[in-house]
Amino acid sequence: MTHLTSQTGFVQSFRICEASAPWMQAGASALRKQVFVQEQALFAGHDRDAIDDLAIPLVAIAENTANGPLVVGTVRIHEETPGIWWGSRLAVAPQWRRVGKLGSELIKLAVGTARARGAVEFHAHVQKQNAVLFRRLHWVVAAEIDLHGRPHVHMLAGLEHYTPIDDPVAGWQISAPSPVEAGT
Ligand SMILES: CC(C)(COP(=O)(O)OP(=O)(O)OC[C@H]1O[C@@H](n2cnc3c(N)ncnc32)[C@H](O)[C@@H]1OP(=O)(O)O)[C@@H](O)C(=O)NCCC(=O)NCCS
Repeated sequence: MTHLTSQTGFVQSFRICEASAPWMQAGASALRKQVFVQEQALFAGHDRDAIDDLAIPLVAIAENTANGPLVVGTVRIHEETPGIWWGSRLAVAPQWRRVGKLGSELIKLAVGTARARGAVEFHAHVQKQNAVLFRRLHWVVAAEIDLHGRPHVHMLAGLEHYTPIDDPVAGWQISAPSPVEAGT
């Protein structure tokens, strides 16, 4: 069985980009299921909903794993009404959390992509335990609410802190010392 371990000196490269290819979209769907259905039990069976019909899926891809490129993070964005954008289903695979700031990078891509498309507001319902992460990234709290039986915080991004991103398909690359696949 493949497992992950830390290896001093190994540098993993990640691409943060729009899920423009079917394998990226499939990877994002599988990761969402792993995190929101299996790990967090927020949904039974699957976590897909009507927003998926109009949302833009974004991904973080670990590029040089032993098994080739792998989707290790995802988020989706959609424009609810003209200028009013939402982000949802932010997830990083457990073994890749707090590794390369993938969650933060996905938030930058999400808000930056929406800004380039004319966003005047960017909202999210953030799980309460993650509000600290968003606060550090210049988000403010609008309200506290319960969703799916769990405490959430309705937050808004400080748009002026986010560079508009015109080409999310190209995205960008980051590197970080990280877990690597150690083999069988
Ligand atoms: C929330 C999540 C996406 C963050 O991904 P990540 O790749 O670990 O995030 P980052 O590495 O960018 O974190 C940035 C910083 O926030 C901190 N952080 C991340 N999640 C945190 C949490 N839940 N509580 C406190 N601090 C947190 C990190 O330690 C890091 O701090 P540092 O800058 O001092 O090192 C990930 O933990 C996850 O997928 N959780 C399960 C799914 C989930 O809760 N999704 C809903 C999001 S609303």
